Amino acid sequence: MKTFTSALAILAAFLVDNSYAGLRFPCSTLTTQRLDPAAQPGALPSAHLHMIVGGNAFNATMLGDVGERATCTTCQMADDFSNYWVAHMYFKDPKNGTYHIVKPKPVQPLLGGSNGAQGGLTVYYTQFDLSKDNLAKQPIKAFPPGFRMTVGSPTVTNKPHAGLSYQCMAGQNRGTIVSDWPKGKCTNGIFTTHHFAPCWDGKNLDSPDHQSHMYNTVTSEGFTNAPTCPASHPVRVPQVTFEIEWDTPVFNSLWDPAKDKNPFMWSFEGTGAGTHADYMFGWKGDALQKAMDKSECFYDGCGAIKKQAMSVAGQCTVKNFVNEKIDGWSKYLPGAEAAMKAKVKREFKA
Ligand SMILES: *[C@@H]1O[C@H](CO)[C@@H](O)[C@H](O)[C@H]1NC(C)=O
Ligand SMILES: *[C@@H]1O[C@H](CO)[C@@H](O)[C@H](O)[C@H]1NC(C)=O
Repeated sequence: MKTFTSALAILAAFLVDNSYAGLRFPCSTLTTQRLDPAAQPGALPSAHLHMIVGGNAFNATMLGDVGERATCTTCQMADDFSNYWVAHMYFKDPKNGTYHIVKPKPVQPLLGGSNGAQGGLTVYYTQFDLSKDNLAKQPIKAFPPGFRMTVGSPTVTNKPHAGLSYQCMAGQNRGTIVSDWPKGKCTNGIFTTHHFAPCWDGKNLDSPDHQSHMYNTVTSEGFTNAPTCPASHPVRVPQVTFEIEWDTPVFNSLWDPAKDKNPFMWSFEGTGAGTHADYMFGWKGDALQKAMDKSECFYDGCGAIKKQAMSVAGQCTVKNFVNEKIDGWSKYLPGAEAAMKAKVKREFKA
């Protein structure tokens, strides 16, 4: 169990000793659409709604060097044109069964404050754990252009996955790490964490399930150094993590934990175990490798990395490729009405 208190202790230690390593930075929301160039390339729209951050090369299909194609990014690190995305959170009103999107809000604390970050998520690239780099013993290889991976799966309905977790926020206290939706009302939102696998086969940019070119040696929660990679996946890559704070308190007056079952879900009508995340590498040139070779990069970057103000990052946008209404109350989750009509049509024909 790791609480926010320990994260604060590490942050305080960092402020007096900057030998710590790894990157942590905010990315504002780039777009909210039914697109998924990793799991459903070419699908316009994809099956369920995602919250997407990062570079403006984002599209239904993404091949080749993303960092070369993009011209802006919603991330604080100006050379990071990667895309990071997760299923969107929804609230289903227990009284009338209608759905409402739950917005992400910037993860706190951010060094220097939110600085104009809008929604989005916080990204980490760690070399060892939150407090050291150990680069002498363990070189870290940055991902190559075209690389992508996912963690978790919307089709999983009950098995907890190490590194995919929830916390019930009360003030700045993030609370106990759990593997499913928190039970009661969370007065400051629901915090979700997605840790990706740290070992790569060194050959494939992707694999049919978007995961088997990677191997996870981490079995515990929190920011721990990954145990040694196996011979099948010998290349140690940065440990990538996303953190998101979802603004659930705006719905707290609409449900009663004593009577109603959990009203929060993922955009595929998903259970807690179905939480997942997608990563599309897109750093420009060798900018990520340079950062991973250093031990002074932490929290807000380092000399080698260009940063931009979040007010500038927030101006980066992409086209609305799907054009569907996602705000306000709705009888269906995005995509669910069409899927239901298709099913009725099939059954009618049969
Ligand atoms: C998106 O992809 C399509 C098909 O590959 C391409 O024609 C289009 O230019 C791309 N749009 C953007 C904004 O990248
Ligand atoms: C369902 O309840 C919400 C919250 O009270 C309300 O805003 C919304 O209009 C209701 N929808 C319908 C279809 O009654």
